[in-house]
Amino acid sequence: MGERIRLPGPVKDSDLIRLELSTWPEVKAYLECCKGIILPIGSTEQHGPTGAIGTDFITAEAVALEVGRRTGVFVAPAQPYGMAEHHLGFPGTMSLKPETLMALIHDLIISLATHGFERIFVVNGHGGNVATSKAAFAQAYGSAVDRGLLVAPRLRCKLSSWFMAAPVFSKARDLYGEKEGQHATPSEISLTLHLHPSLVDKQRKLGEPAPAGPINSYKDFRIRYPDGRMGSDPFLASPAHGALLLSTAVDSLTEDLEQFLSAT
Ligand code: NI
Repeated sequence: MGERIRLPGPVKDSDLIRLELSTWPEVKAYLECCKGIILPIGSTEQHGPTGAIGTDFITAEAVALEVGRRTGVFVAPAQPYGMAEHHLGFPGTMSLKPETLMALIHDLIISLATHGFERIFVVNGHGGNVATSKAAFAQAYGSAVDRGLLVAPRLRCKLSSWFMAAPVFSKARDLYGEKEGQHATPSEISLTLHLHPSLVDKQRKLGEPAPAGPINSYKDFRIRYPDGRMGSDPFLASPAHGALLLSTAVDSLTEDLEQFLSAT
């Protein structure tokens, strides 16, 4: 039987659960009580003419750190680059090809599994990462077996996209209706305004957005969605909405994490 996986319990300051601020003996001691870890992943890509390029990893990291603070589960450094090929028509976007992101996530999981981490809870801030992350999980399960890692039979990875959590989705619909759109959404922009108040100065009223539709090449994307938005009105965003949506996301993902760590 594997050792029990349980939640270490809340901590006062999220610095206490940041992997990058821990020493290796602390990680070793942590692994004796908990085999779970949170890995935030995002993207560095355009978010319309008024939204921050880092929106997707800024939001994923904030959700991850607060889930970690509430539960005591360690949080790995945020991965700021994602699969954003379709946004390359806009300056500032930095994308990983699907195969690069797949290899990266695979390698991070295998690194953690080598030390005995059995449950990798990936907090995601970008829709474009979903398919690739799931492919990376499948590949990592196979590699863990091939490498003879002790945790191989118990290794589990879960992708949790904060913006797709049902309570977040319904709150965003209540607040913004159809104006939520599909990219550079007022809900994600609200989180960034709450986390970085200086971003409020970039907010301004924009014209009608292009309607949401298919995603093809970045050249086609730029033609279909000339200012980068897909059906969204990010001017509706506010720091207060951001605080509310962040706590809604954290409530929902904390529950997800608890189930994930206790499931067999
Ligand atoms: Ni985004």
